[in-house]
Amino acid sequence: MPAYKPPHIPSSEITPEHIYLKRRTLLAAGLAAGATFVTGAGSGEANAATLTQAEALKTVPGPFPKPKRAETSFEDVTNYNNFYEFGTGKADPSRNSGRFQPYPWTFEIGGMVQKPQTVDIETLMTKFPLEDRVYRMRCVEAWSMVIPWVGIPLKSIIDMAEPTGSAKYVAFEGVVRPKEMPGQSGFGQPMPWPYVEGLRLDEANHPLTIIAVGLYGKTLLNQSGAPMRLVVPWKYGFKGIKSITKITLTDTQPPNSWNLLQPNEYGFYANVNPNVPHPRWSQATERVIGEDGGLFGGGKRIDTLMFNGYGDEVASLYAGMDLAKYY
Ligand code: MTE
Repeated sequence: MPAYKPPHIPSSEITPEHIYLKRRTLLAAGLAAGATFVTGAGSGEANAATLTQAEALKTVPGPFPKPKRAETSFEDVTNYNNFYEFGTGKADPSRNSGRFQPYPWTFEIGGMVQKPQTVDIETLMTKFPLEDRVYRMRCVEAWSMVIPWVGIPLKSIIDMAEPTGSAKYVAFEGVVRPKEMPGQSGFGQPMPWPYVEGLRLDEANHPLTIIAVGLYGKTLLNQSGAPMRLVVPWKYGFKGIKSITKITLTDTQPPNSWNLLQPNEYGFYANVNPNVPHPRWSQATERVIGEDGGLFGGGKRIDTLMFNGYGDEVASLYAGMDLAKYY
Protein backbone atom coordinates (compact mmCIF):
# COMPACT_ATOMS: atom_id res chain seq x y z
CA MET A 1 0.00 0.00 0.00
CA PRO A 2 1.44 3.42 -0.92
CA ALA A 3 2.32 5.74 1.97
CA TYR A 4 -0.57 8.04 2.84
CA LYS A 5 -0.11 11.65 1.79
CA PRO A 6 -2.86 14.20 2.50
CA PRO A 7 -3.90 16.06 -0.67
CA HIS A 8 -3.11 19.73 -0.96
CA ILE A 9 -6.26 21.90 -0.90
CA PRO A 10 -5.60 24.83 -3.24
CA SER A 11 -6.79 28.23 -2.08
CA SER A 12 -8.55 28.59 -5.45
CA GLU A 13 -11.16 26.22 -4.06
CA ILE A 14 -12.44 28.77 -1.61
CA THR A 15 -15.03 30.34 -3.87
CA PRO A 16 -15.50 34.08 -3.54
CA GLU A 17 -18.98 35.36 -2.85
CA HIS A 18 -19.67 36.75 -6.32
CA ILE A 19 -19.21 33.28 -7.77
CA TYR A 20 -21.42 31.85 -5.06
CA LEU A 21 -24.11 34.37 -5.93
CA LYS A 22 -23.78 33.58 -9.60
CA ARG A 23 -24.16 29.91 -8.81
CA ARG A 24 -27.34 30.54 -6.84
CA THR A 25 -28.74 32.25 -9.93
CA LEU A 26 -27.62 29.34 -12.07
CA LEU A 27 -29.19 26.94 -9.62
CA ALA A 28 -32.51 28.75 -9.71
CA ALA A 29 -32.44 28.80 -13.50
CA GLY A 30 -31.40 25.14 -13.58
CA LEU A 31 -34.19 24.07 -11.28
CA ALA A 32 -36.70 25.98 -13.38
CA ALA A 33 -35.46 24.26 -16.52
CA GLY A 34 -35.41 20.86 -14.81
CA ALA A 35 -31.63 20.66 -15.16
CA THR A 36 -29.41 18.80 -12.73
CA PHE A 37 -25.99 19.67 -11.44
CA VAL A 38 -23.30 17.15 -12.04
CA THR A 39 -20.29 16.91 -9.81
CA GLY A 40 -17.00 15.40 -10.80
CA ALA A 41 -14.26 13.89 -8.69
CA GLY A 42 -14.53 14.03 -4.91
CA SER A 43 -11.83 14.59 -2.32
CA GLY A 44 -11.11 18.21 -3.01
CA GLU A 45 -10.50 18.09 -6.74
CA ALA A 46 -12.27 21.09 -8.24
CA ASN A 47 -12.95 21.42 -11.92
CA ALA A 48 -15.41 23.28 -14.11
CA ALA A 49 -18.11 20.66 -13.60
CA THR A 50 -17.90 20.52 -9.82
CA LEU A 51 -20.23 23.43 -9.27
CA THR A 52 -21.67 22.18 -6.05
CA GLN A 53 -18.67 20.62 -4.39
CA ALA A 54 -16.25 23.45 -4.89
CA GLU A 55 -18.61 26.13 -3.92
CA ALA A 56 -18.72 28.52 -0.99
CA LEU A 57 -21.96 28.66 0.94
CA LYS A 58 -23.76 31.74 2.11
CA THR A 59 -24.35 31.33 5.82
CA VAL A 60 -25.79 33.14 8.81
CA PRO A 61 -24.26 32.79 12.28
CA GLY A 62 -25.74 29.90 14.27
CA PRO A 63 -27.26 30.42 17.72
CA PHE A 64 -24.49 28.83 19.85
CA PRO A 65 -21.18 30.38 20.93
CA LYS A 66 -17.98 28.87 19.53
CA PRO A 67 -16.17 26.33 21.70
CA LYS A 68 -13.03 27.63 23.41
CA ARG A 69 -10.66 25.18 21.70
CA ALA A 70 -9.10 25.96 18.31
CA GLU A 71 -10.78 24.74 15.13
CA THR A 72 -9.25 21.62 13.59
CA SER A 73 -7.74 22.35 10.18
CA PHE A 74 -9.80 21.67 7.03
CA GLU A 75 -7.08 19.29 5.95
CA ASP A 76 -7.32 17.19 9.13
CA VAL A 77 -11.13 17.26 9.19
CA THR A 78 -11.26 15.92 5.64
CA ASN A 79 -8.43 13.39 5.76
CA TYR A 80 -9.10 11.52 9.00
CA ASN A 81 -12.57 10.03 8.69
CA ASN A 82 -14.80 7.07 9.39
CA PHE A 83 -17.02 6.23 6.44
CA TYR A 84 -17.01 2.47 6.00
CA GLU A 85 -18.79 2.65 2.64
CA PHE A 86 -15.36 3.73 1.36
CA GLY A 87 -13.24 1.39 3.51
CA THR A 88 -12.39 0.97 7.18
CA GLY A 89 -9.10 2.93 7.34
CA LYS A 90 -9.12 6.58 8.46
CA ALA A 91 -7.55 7.68 5.16
CA ASP A 92 -9.83 5.48 3.00
CA PRO A 93 -12.78 7.91 2.77
CA SER A 94 -10.66 10.74 1.33
CA ARG A 95 -8.76 8.34 -0.90
CA ASN A 96 -11.63 6.16 -2.17
CA SER A 97 -14.60 8.50 -2.49
CA GLY A 98 -13.79 10.10 -5.85
CA ARG A 99 -16.35 8.05 -7.76
CA PHE A 100 -19.26 8.96 -5.48
CA GLN A 101 -21.71 11.40 -7.14
CA PRO A 102 -23.75 13.07 -4.40
CA TYR A 103 -25.59 15.57 -6.61
CA PRO A 104 -28.40 15.68 -7.55
CA TRP A 105 -29.69 14.17 -4.29
CA THR A 106 -33.13 13.53 -2.92
CA PHE A 107 -34.11 11.98 0.40
CA GLU A 108 -37.41 10.70 1.71
CA ILE A 109 -39.07 11.82 4.89
CA GLY A 110 -41.98 9.66 5.99
CA GLY A 111 -43.38 7.22 8.53
CA MET A 112 -45.58 8.73 11.26
CA VAL A 113 -46.10 12.06 9.53
CA GLN A 114 -48.99 13.91 7.90
CA LYS A 115 -46.97 14.94 4.86
CA PRO A 116 -44.53 12.31 3.64
CA GLN A 117 -42.37 13.71 0.88
CA THR A 118 -39.29 13.44 -1.28
CA VAL A 119 -37.00 16.40 -0.79
CA ASP A 120 -34.27 17.72 -3.08
CA ILE A 121 -31.31 18.77 -0.95
CA GLU A 122 -30.33 21.73 -3.13
CA THR A 123 -33.88 23.07 -3.00
CA LEU A 124 -33.77 22.64 0.76
CA MET A 125 -30.53 24.62 0.91
CA THR A 126 -32.27 27.54 -0.73
CA LYS A 127 -35.36 27.23 1.48
CA PHE A 128 -33.66 27.46 4.88
CA PRO A 129 -30.87 29.81 5.95
CA LEU A 130 -27.63 27.85 6.25
CA GLU A 131 -26.18 28.37 9.72
CA ASP A 132 -22.53 28.40 10.78
CA ARG A 133 -22.16 26.18 13.82
CA VAL A 134 -18.76 25.42 15.32
CA TYR A 135 -19.03 22.23 17.38
CA ARG A 136 -16.70 20.07 19.43
CA MET A 137 -16.89 16.52 18.09
CA ARG A 138 -15.82 13.43 20.05
CA CYS A 139 -15.29 9.96 18.62
CA VAL A 140 -15.78 6.80 20.64
CA GLU A 141 -12.22 5.88 19.66
CA ALA A 142 -11.16 8.73 21.95
CA TRP A 143 -10.14 11.42 19.51
CA SER A 144 -11.73 14.82 19.13
CA MET A 145 -11.96 17.70 16.69
CA VAL A 146 -13.58 21.15 16.58
CA ILE A 147 -15.44 21.52 13.28
CA PRO A 148 -17.06 24.59 11.73
CA TRP A 149 -20.17 23.00 10.25
CA VAL A 150 -22.73 24.58 7.96
CA GLY A 151 -26.13 23.12 8.68
CA ILE A 152 -29.90 23.30 8.90
CA PRO A 153 -31.61 22.49 12.22
CA LEU A 154 -32.98 18.96 11.90
CA LYS A 155 -36.21 20.15 13.52
CA SER A 156 -36.96 22.43 10.54
CA ILE A 157 -36.72 19.44 8.21
CA ILE A 158 -38.79 17.16 10.45
CA ASP A 159 -41.48 19.82 10.81
CA MET A 160 -41.89 20.04 7.02
CA ALA A 161 -43.39 16.54 7.20
CA GLU A 162 -45.63 17.28 10.22
CA PRO A 163 -45.03 14.34 12.60
CA THR A 164 -48.14 12.77 14.15
CA GLY A 165 -48.62 12.65 17.92
CA SER A 166 -47.51 8.99 18.02
CA ALA A 167 -44.01 9.63 16.63
CA LYS A 168 -41.36 9.13 19.35
CA TYR A 169 -38.16 8.41 17.41
CA VAL A 170 -36.43 9.32 14.16
CA ALA A 171 -34.72 6.64 12.05
CA PHE A 172 -32.07 7.45 9.44
CA GLU A 173 -30.73 5.43 6.50
CA GLY A 174 -27.52 5.93 4.58
CA VAL A 175 -26.91 5.29 0.91
CA VAL A 176 -26.27 2.01 -0.94
CA ARG A 177 -24.25 2.47 -4.12
CA PRO A 178 -21.75 -0.39 -4.49
CA LYS A 179 -20.60 0.93 -7.87
CA GLU A 180 -19.51 4.22 -6.31
CA MET A 181 -18.57 2.97 -2.84
CA PRO A 182 -15.80 0.38 -2.77
CA GLY A 183 -16.55 -0.61 0.84
CA GLN A 184 -19.96 -1.84 -0.32
CA SER A 185 -18.71 -4.21 -3.00
CA GLY A 186 -16.64 -7.38 -3.04
CA PHE A 187 -15.61 -9.63 -0.18
CA GLY A 188 -15.09 -8.76 3.46
CA GLN A 189 -17.62 -5.98 3.80
CA PRO A 190 -17.45 -4.55 7.30
CA MET A 191 -21.18 -4.20 8.03
CA PRO A 192 -24.65 -4.68 6.52
CA TRP A 193 -25.89 -1.80 4.37
CA PRO A 194 -27.42 0.69 4.52
CA TYR A 195 -25.75 2.29 7.55
CA VAL A 196 -28.59 3.09 9.94
CA GLU A 197 -28.99 5.39 12.94
CA GLY A 198 -31.68 6.71 15.24
CA LEU A 199 -32.51 9.45 17.73
CA ARG A 200 -35.30 10.03 20.17
CA LEU A 201 -37.62 12.70 18.73
CA ASP A 202 -36.73 15.18 21.49
CA GLU A 203 -33.01 14.69 20.70
CA ALA A 204 -33.70 15.16 17.01
CA ASN A 205 -35.68 18.33 17.68
CA HIS A 206 -33.05 19.77 20.02
CA PRO A 207 -31.68 23.07 18.67
CA LEU A 208 -28.09 21.73 18.76
CA THR A 209 -28.94 18.94 16.28
CA ILE A 210 -28.32 19.78 12.65
CA ILE A 211 -28.22 18.25 9.23
CA ALA A 212 -24.85 19.46 7.99
CA VAL A 213 -24.50 20.29 4.32
CA GLY A 214 -21.07 21.88 4.55
CA LEU A 215 -18.03 22.65 6.64
CA TYR A 216 -15.59 25.53 6.64
CA GLY A 217 -18.12 27.47 4.53
CA LYS A 218 -18.07 24.98 1.63
CA THR A 219 -20.34 22.10 0.66
CA LEU A 220 -19.32 18.78 2.20
CA LEU A 221 -16.65 16.76 0.48
CA ASN A 222 -17.62 13.16 -0.17
CA GLN A 223 -15.58 11.82 2.75
CA SER A 224 -17.46 14.07 5.19
CA GLY A 225 -20.87 12.71 4.20
CA ALA A 226 -21.91 14.71 1.13
CA PRO A 227 -24.41 16.01 0.49
CA MET A 228 -26.06 15.78 3.97
CA ARG A 229 -25.14 14.15 7.27
CA LEU A 230 -26.32 14.24 10.86
CA VAL A 231 -24.39 16.21 13.51
CA VAL A 232 -25.28 15.71 17.20
CA PRO A 233 -22.45 17.32 19.14
CA TRP A 234 -23.12 15.81 22.58
CA LYS A 235 -22.98 12.25 21.22
CA TYR A 236 -20.10 10.12 19.98
CA GLY A 237 -19.31 10.56 16.30
CA PHE A 238 -20.81 7.26 15.18
CA LYS A 239 -24.30 8.76 15.59
CA GLY A 240 -23.47 11.23 12.78
CA ILE A 241 -24.78 9.18 9.86
CA LYS A 242 -23.48 10.36 6.50
CA SER A 243 -25.08 10.65 3.05
CA ILE A 244 -28.64 10.25 4.35
CA THR A 245 -31.33 8.94 1.98
CA LYS A 246 -34.23 8.38 4.34
CA ILE A 247 -35.65 9.94 7.52
CA THR A 248 -38.52 8.02 9.13
CA LEU A 249 -40.62 9.04 12.12
CA THR A 250 -41.57 6.00 14.20
CA ASP A 251 -42.89 4.95 17.61
CA THR A 252 -40.25 2.28 18.22
CA GLN A 253 -36.54 2.72 18.98
CA PRO A 254 -34.76 2.41 15.63
CA PRO A 255 -31.73 0.18 15.05
CA ASN A 256 -28.26 1.71 14.77
CA SER A 257 -25.45 0.05 12.84
CA TRP A 258 -22.79 -0.13 15.54
CA ASN A 259 -25.24 -1.44 18.12
CA LEU A 260 -26.36 -4.13 15.67
CA LEU A 261 -22.73 -5.13 15.12
CA GLN A 262 -21.45 -4.99 18.71
CA PRO A 263 -24.27 -4.37 21.19
CA ASN A 264 -22.04 -4.67 24.26
CA GLU A 265 -19.74 -1.91 22.96
CA TYR A 266 -22.14 0.56 21.35
CA GLY A 267 -25.56 1.52 22.67
CA PHE A 268 -28.44 3.54 21.27
CA TYR A 269 -27.79 6.74 23.22
CA ALA A 270 -24.03 7.16 22.69
CA ASN A 271 -23.89 10.30 24.84
CA VAL A 272 -20.32 11.45 25.43
CA ASN A 273 -19.65 10.37 29.01
CA PRO A 274 -16.20 10.31 30.62
CA ASN A 275 -17.58 8.19 33.50
CA VAL A 276 -18.73 5.25 31.39
CA PRO A 277 -15.77 3.51 29.75
CA HIS A 278 -16.03 1.69 26.46
CA PRO A 279 -15.58 -2.05 27.34
CA ARG A 280 -12.07 -1.97 25.86
CA TRP A 281 -10.82 1.51 26.79
CA SER A 282 -11.43 4.53 28.99
CA GLN A 283 -13.51 7.44 27.72
CA ALA A 284 -12.14 9.84 30.37
CA THR A 285 -9.68 11.61 28.07
CA GLU A 286 -9.41 12.38 24.37
CA ARG A 287 -6.66 12.90 21.81
CA VAL A 288 -6.93 16.30 20.14
CA ILE A 289 -6.49 15.80 16.41
CA GLY A 290 -4.06 18.29 14.92
CA GLU A 291 -2.36 19.23 18.18
CA ASP A 292 0.97 17.75 19.24
CA GLY A 293 1.88 14.85 17.04
CA GLY A 294 -0.14 15.27 13.85
CA LEU A 295 -2.95 13.30 12.33
CA PHE A 296 -1.77 9.78 12.91
CA GLY A 297 0.65 10.61 15.72
CA GLY A 298 0.29 10.48 19.49
CA GLY A 299 -1.64 13.72 19.89
CA LYS A 300 -2.27 15.86 22.93
CA ARG A 301 -4.77 14.46 25.45
CA ILE A 302 -7.32 16.49 27.38
CA ASP A 303 -10.08 15.52 29.81
CA THR A 304 -13.37 14.64 28.16
CA LEU A 305 -16.36 16.67 29.31
CA MET A 306 -19.78 15.24 30.17
CA PHE A 307 -22.06 15.52 27.12
CA ASN A 308 -18.94 16.76 25.29
CA GLY A 309 -19.29 20.11 27.05
CA TYR A 310 -22.96 20.62 26.08
CA GLY A 311 -24.39 19.58 29.48
CA ASP A 312 -26.11 22.91 30.16
CA GLU A 313 -28.07 22.50 26.95
CA VAL A 314 -28.90 18.77 26.97
CA ALA A 315 -28.58 17.22 30.48
CA SER A 316 -32.30 17.77 31.11
CA LEU A 317 -33.15 15.39 28.23
CA TYR A 318 -31.80 12.54 30.37
CA ALA A 319 -33.05 13.53 33.83
CA GLY A 320 -33.59 10.42 35.95
CA MET A 321 -31.98 8.03 33.44
CA ASP A 322 -29.14 5.70 34.44
CA LEU A 323 -26.59 6.66 31.79
CA ALA A 324 -24.42 3.65 32.60
CA LYS A 325 -27.35 1.44 31.60
CA TYR A 326 -28.51 3.59 28.68
CA TYR A 327 -25.06 4.14 27.14
N1 MTE B 1 -22.03 7.25 8.28
C1 MTE B 1 -22.00 6.30 7.33
N2 MTE B 1 -22.93 6.32 6.37
N3 MTE B 1 -21.05 5.33 7.33
C2 MTE B 1 -20.10 5.26 8.32
O1 MTE B 1 -19.25 4.35 8.30
N4 MTE B 1 -19.23 6.24 10.38
C3 MTE B 1 -19.63 6.92 11.61
C4 MTE B 1 -20.25 8.29 11.32
N5 MTE B 1 -21.16 8.24 10.21
C5 MTE B 1 -20.12 6.24 9.33
C6 MTE B 1 -21.11 7.25 9.27
C7 MTE B 1 -18.53 7.06 12.55
S1 MTE B 1 -18.01 5.62 13.30
C8 MTE B 1 -17.97 8.25 12.86
S2 MTE B 1 -16.81 8.39 14.11
C9 MTE B 1 -18.34 9.47 12.12
O2 MTE B 1 -19.21 9.21 11.03
C10 MTE B 1 -17.07 10.13 11.58
O3 MTE B 1 -17.38 11.34 11.00
P1 MTE B 1 -16.19 12.21 10.38
O4 MTE B 1 -15.45 11.33 9.44
O5 MTE B 1 -16.85 13.35 9.72
O6 MTE B 1 -15.31 12.62 11.54
